[in-house]
Amino acid sequence: MTRATWRTRLGFVLAAVGSAVGLGNIWRFPWLTATNGGAAFLLLYLLVIVLVGVPGLVGEMVIGRRSRRNPVGAFAELGGPRWRVLGGVALVASVVVLSFYSVVGGWILRYTLASATGAYFAAPEQYFAAIDYGVGAAGFHALFLLATVAVVYAGVDRGIELATTVMVPGIVLLFGGLAVWVATLPGSGGGYEFFLSLDVAYLRDNFFSVLVAAAGQALFTLSVGAGAMLTYASYLGEDRSLAADGTIIAALNTGIGVLAGLVIFPLLFSLGVSPGEGGPGALFVGLAGAFGTLPYSRVVGVVFFGVVLLAALSSAISIMEVLVAYLVDEHALSRPRATAGVGGLFLVTGTAAALSPSLFGLLADTLANLVLTAGLLGFLLFDGWVLRRAALDEYETGAGRLARLTGRPWYYAVAVVIPLFLAFTFLTGLGAVAGVPVSAPAALALAVVGVGGAIVLLRSDTDSTA
Ligand code: PFF
Repeated sequence: MTRATWRTRLGFVLAAVGSAVGLGNIWRFPWLTATNGGAAFLLLYLLVIVLVGVPGLVGEMVIGRRSRRNPVGAFAELGGPRWRVLGGVALVASVVVLSFYSVVGGWILRYTLASATGAYFAAPEQYFAAIDYGVGAAGFHALFLLATVAVVYAGVDRGIELATTVMVPGIVLLFGGLAVWVATLPGSGGGYEFFLSLDVAYLRDNFFSVLVAAAGQALFTLSVGAGAMLTYASYLGEDRSLAADGTIIAALNTGIGVLAGLVIFPLLFSLGVSPGEGGPGALFVGLAGAFGTLPYSRVVGVVFFGVVLLAALSSAISIMEVLVAYLVDEHALSRPRATAGVGGLFLVTGTAAALSPSLFGLLADTLANLVLTAGLLGFLLFDGWVLRRAALDEYETGAGRLARLTGRPWYYAVAVVIPLFLAFTFLTGLGAVAGVPVSAPAALALAVVGVGGAIVLLRSDTDSTA
């Protein structure tokens, strides 16, 4: 059986942008920005996207395109059977992410419908508290999952490519329209100021905690570390510059994220709601509650949650595809069977997260950051010390002159510098979860020892097998 490929390069780029743009941009990003000092967070986040996110994204795609396989098959093919375990990390990360993601997707679906009837307008807080977890939440999660299954079931080009080619431009248009409309509301100015003016003292006093939050968010928003971008790149039929594609994907994702911020913060300020209130529920309580007081509130609510729904769906698809690709490539299952099996798995894990707030919090808050960071760390060390020259060759394949010039700096970044950074944020994050705060110098020292040790091992290993 021939392996599926994207019909066009644009189709691939839009599918990848669809994966990147999602709840991370609209739900997680404003929430983290609000609790990490506004523009201070935005600044570090943008820096991490450029210096870590883009090279990391390309490092993940290099593995997919070179092997034309799912994560497990890719590492086995390129590095030998024992590297399958690294693909296993990607599968686990996919399960962690989609298990809570589809619960939030269910909330969004419910709010899209409830906007049409105005169900939450009168008492937004009570409404959210009544629907966030429980049987109803599990039901809507299942519906969201069903929509995801339907697209993945239809296949790479006829399902994913077709759906995201319509969805992504739709997201840009609708958010653009909302941003313009929000600017006309009285009192919205405070939102721009909060979002765009930098508090240097805050940044100085909280540098490391803001940095760690920004790093986790940067990986999450670019969909790296779980093998989604690896899998999407494995369907590339033609050799074009991965560096150019990665830059375009990250730029569009960041642009849409900032656009979402330009809708959400001014809207909150115009209604006198503080953006820090409500944590993960902020979008649903603060913002949704505010809709009720606006003119055309039902239309605004349906449009807003409708766009978020599209964005969430185009991301959920990419995570599900990781596991489906694995079953199709490695276990020779047909796509319909593989999709049904994976759908069944998430029905169970997602239902558990929809019934248990503590499980949900664990997955969404801490585990997601940790598994994505660990995944990307492994991918990049693999590029740098197992693939080595082949990674650089793949980077340069199809690349134009500019991209070729960046080849060597990219290689050293993914082989050494970025792994150090990821190990640092991983250890800091792990310390925070375990309740043993790790100071920045200690985390850095441990990162140097850990990454240095891994490099020494990998070098002697590949030298002896070469
Ligand atoms: N990038 C998606 C978002 O910002 O909502 C989330 C995501 C998708 C994370 C795919 C990881 C992944 F593999």
